[in-house]
Amino acid sequence: MSPELHDSRFLKAVRREPVDTTPVWLMRQAGRYLPEYMEVRSRVTFLELCTRPDLAAEVTLTAQAVLGVDAAILFADLLPILRPMGMNLEYQAGEGPVLDNPLRTSGDIDRVVEIEDMEVMGFVFDTVRRVRADLPADCPLIGFAGAPFTLASYAIEGGGSRNYQHTKSIMYGDPGAWQALMDRLVPTLSRYLAAQAEAGCQVVQIFDSWAGCLSPADYRRYVLPHTKRLIESLPEGLPVIHFLTGNPQLYPLQREAGGQVQGLDWRIDLADGWDLVGHDVAVQGNLDPVSLYADLDVLRDRTRDVIDAAAGRPGHIFNLGHGLLPTMDPDKVKALVEMVHELGVGEGPV
Ligand code: CP3
Repeated sequence: MSPELHDSRFLKAVRREPVDTTPVWLMRQAGRYLPEYMEVRSRVTFLELCTRPDLAAEVTLTAQAVLGVDAAILFADLLPILRPMGMNLEYQAGEGPVLDNPLRTSGDIDRVVEIEDMEVMGFVFDTVRRVRADLPADCPLIGFAGAPFTLASYAIEGGGSRNYQHTKSIMYGDPGAWQALMDRLVPTLSRYLAAQAEAGCQVVQIFDSWAGCLSPADYRRYVLPHTKRLIESLPEGLPVIHFLTGNPQLYPLQREAGGQVQGLDWRIDLADGWDLVGHDVAVQGNLDPVSLYADLDVLRDRTRDVIDAAAGRPGHIFNLGHGLLPTMDPDKVKALVEMVHELGVGEGPV
């Protein structure tokens, strides 16, 4: 890794080293709230955008440049990896992702393919190489994948879900089938993330967006061992941001599963969240995204509250507790990034 990247504000915070000010990036920063994204998106479907390295690289780079954030996140999606594993995937306007051959029986799960040759996802690594070549030399690139639970829930439910009825039915009722599915997802995701790092990502984030629907006991039993196995299998020295949302009771277990950086949502005070995951890891978060609809002075107070909760400790990466929403005002999002840099805690200019 180049010295510029190594000494970037973002990677210093990942390592819990002092920084000049708090680093910030925003989940879904390259999304529909940005007119530059909508312009590209008006020409192609979402899946086409994900699979066209020229366009995916363009929207990744534009979001980083327009916002002035301290890291770029690869433009891709959690779910396309499920296609070579045997799932049909479509994104329907207004409905989000739909998989019309959901896994409902152990027979369905038997047909899921573990991916050994990652070339089927070559368009993602191609995007990474293009982005890396054109990003500022001191700007890290974040790769990502879904956590085994969150991907399994999409494959089993066939889309988003309110109660995770089918997923939990398999988990509770057919542990052998659940284990078989995890045994295919974990090595696939491990290779997928390693290949992103190999292509030029400095950090990876694992999104367990829906794990908050579980009790701590169920998370410990059905999820933690698999996420832990995934994180332990990644290349040495590749930092992992581990993110889940919806249930702060799970944070100690999230930490136990692994990751140098623990993502926190807004349902817990950042100071309490950091106590729960331990001060020997970095934290990322945790402004309530809906704060972006408030007036600038309210937004500023709420941003300051999050920064104050970090109490000047090294190892805080500012982010929202979850992603930006399509109806947000891009100028406010830019203002937020500036506020974090201005209010952020550091040693002053270095
Ligand atoms: O953060 C970024 O800017 C990078 C790109 C990114 C997208 N999705 C782009 C996207 C990332 C990191 C994701 C992750 C993702 N995808 C998650 C986890 C993040 C989270 O919110 O917890 C999940 C659950 C998905 C699955 C997914 N993809 C859903 C549920 C949807 C539909 C959302 C909706 O409101 O329609 C998508 C589509 C999607 N992924 C869009 C974008 C910009 C919008 C698609 C469009 O342009 O029409």
